[in-house]
Amino acid sequence: MRISILGCGYVGLVTGACLAELGHEVQCTDNDAEKIEILNRGALPIYEPSLEQIVAANRQAGRLTFTAKVGDAVRFGDAIFICVGTPPLKDGDADLSSMDNAARVIAAESRSSKLVVEKSTVPMQTGQKLKRALQIYARNSGCRFSVASNPEFLCEGTAVSDFLHPDRIVVGVGDEQSEIQLREIYGPLIDQTIACPIHHGDCPPKPSPKLLITSINSAELIKHACNSFLALKISYVNLIADICENMGADVDEVTQAMGLDSRIGPQFLRPGIGFGGFCLPKDVQAFIRLGEKASADMSLLKDAECINKRRIDRFLAKARAPLWTLKDKRIGILGLAFKPETDDIRFAPAMELIRGLIQESAQLQVYDPQAMEKTKALFPSIRYCDTAYAAAENAEALMIATEWPLFRSLDWKLIHQSMSRPLILDGRNLLDGQEMRALGFEYQGIGKPIEEAVDLKVGHAL
Ligand code: UGA
Repeated sequence: MRISILGCGYVGLVTGACLAELGHEVQCTDNDAEKIEILNRGALPIYEPSLEQIVAANRQAGRLTFTAKVGDAVRFGDAIFICVGTPPLKDGDADLSSMDNAARVIAAESRSSKLVVEKSTVPMQTGQKLKRALQIYARNSGCRFSVASNPEFLCEGTAVSDFLHPDRIVVGVGDEQSEIQLREIYGPLIDQTIACPIHHGDCPPKPSPKLLITSINSAELIKHACNSFLALKISYVNLIADICENMGADVDEVTQAMGLDSRIGPQFLRPGIGFGGFCLPKDVQAFIRLGEKASADMSLLKDAECINKRRIDRFLAKARAPLWTLKDKRIGILGLAFKPETDDIRFAPAMELIRGLIQESAQLQVYDPQAMEKTKALFPSIRYCDTAYAAAENAEALMIATEWPLFRSLDWKLIHQSMSRPLILDGRNLLDGQEMRALGFEYQGIGKPIEEAVDLKVGHAL
């Protein structure tokens, strides 16, 4: 099938490249001509593992093209996937202006009838509004548009793998023809007839994905319900971690036992400095707004959001306790991205951490394997280091804000020697506390019994 992708953010790019991998002819476009120029040069505007490889292969095979001419791209596809951003407005609602713009462009530029698929994360009933907008804007064109919702469940850092090996594919439709078209689009995944290009025969062992056909409203709600539930799970485990710290239990022991209960499951039980990224924080906010409009009591999610916002205050208090004051202290930070294997810093906890430390006049030296360029634009005056070792040198504390696996295998003996005070504040429980203490570090993880005289309740209202 010929498919158009509107929006070359990470969802659009992964969706476009993977749909081409399924054998479809895909053309992608974006309002940002510079992005298209980068893509046509064979580079990528974002870092996402395996994406470069499948973009290159499918471009070479002639199945994947990029154009800055939005009209051409709209006319290209029998189906158009809208993958535009839906950032938060000041009041937490999703900003749907890019969706509205997409509807106008599709209506104005189409010369034939099309299936329009909502891939962007949107509040419930957006599909209905999209359909109405398309009808109004295209009323004189003779073109007819059907609308479907096909939420994505891709995680940054593993998005290509998630696309090719999904747990489920959710398709919200209002008519039979849309269902037929979407079944055709995802046929190779459902029938498992594609040769996975990234795992070389070593794919994650998984049953065939379930295809769920729902109403458009339900599909939209599924996405918000899933992301909000994941956020709840993380805030819940962070709350457990705080109790562990203050009352002397080990959160790893607790979550291991919790995760072995098949009703709870082991994933998203990692405590830390909070959830970030461009999805969970904004989707929780948008879902709270939606729930309030539906007269539902959203206090559960509001509390989850509140717990998340306070993670950084609590982490800073943990630094203040041994260091007394952060003013003029040289502090190293390892990890800037909101999670490993991405260069995305949007709503990353590390950004809040930097803001807090700057406010207290700490001297920062930071390192991240992928996210330094993007962070420089936000904080031009802190010191960016070429290596993790340089970020630790002469520091009075080293904070781990993102659990990049490579940090685990650093030469920690060397780091111990180079630090002014060998204090590690591990915001992601990346390192083994016992090993670090055996090397002579003062080590503080998350949800571990607090050592010595560090009392977070003294002097800091958390
Ligand atoms: C999230 C969802 O997990 C995806 O299913 C969804 O498709 C995506 O949003 C989206 O809406 O597009 P993503 O934002 O890539 O994916 O990242 P997650 O893996 O969910 O992590 C989000 C944040 O939670 C990160 O800051 C991570 O460090 C934190 N986290 C995650 C924890 O603190 N603890 C955990 O146990 C898991």
